[in-house]
Amino acid sequence: MTEPLVEFRPFTTALFVSPNLPVPKSVLPGALALRSRDSGNLISNIGGWQSSSYAPSQNAFMADVEAMMTKTATQVHRQLGISAPAKLFEYWVNMNGRNDYNLSHTHYGATVSAVLYLKAPKNSGEIVFERPDVLNDYVQPDELNDLNFGTYAFEPEENMAVFFPGFLKHYVKRSEANEPRVSIAFNFRKG
Ligand SMILES: [Fe+2]
Repeated sequence: MTEPLVEFRPFTTALFVSPNLPVPKSVLPGALALRSRDSGNLISNIGGWQSSSYAPSQNAFMADVEAMMTKTATQVHRQLGISAPAKLFEYWVNMNGRNDYNLSHTHYGATVSAVLYLKAPKNSGEIVFERPDVLNDYVQPDELNDLNFGTYAFEPEENMAVFFPGFLKHYVKRSEANEPRVSIAFNFRKG
């Protein structure tokens, strides 16, 4: 006979996906237009273009997206037991073409971060989250499950947003698509 075994999950790290946000049509051209006047930053991107960091309300075309992302980030705050609403403090646009990728990084200072995909051609680079502890140094699982993933990847889809804790390391695989992938990254903190 099997004795009872009670499972506790006190140290769970969760990812949250909003699969199909109603992003206004004007956002993609607005984001692309920034490139002509913004030489961008070199942070985690190898190739590609990463805009400077923008403050909320800095670009009028972003108003609706800022509001809907903040609302969803506030839901994530609730899930994490943070009673204060989420407050957007910066965002930036990423454009990766063929062979471009992003190195592993975190979003320092953010309770919650997010990425929203505006253009996501097939094979334009999965976002890969890395396990935040060293379990896999000790355990090489024979069967993957919620308790043992070493990495967890999402295939980008248009109008999909992935929300994640700011501390969680992630990278973006090399794009094999001919058309660029366009995304916006967001950082939130307690409002
Ligand atoms: Fe990132």
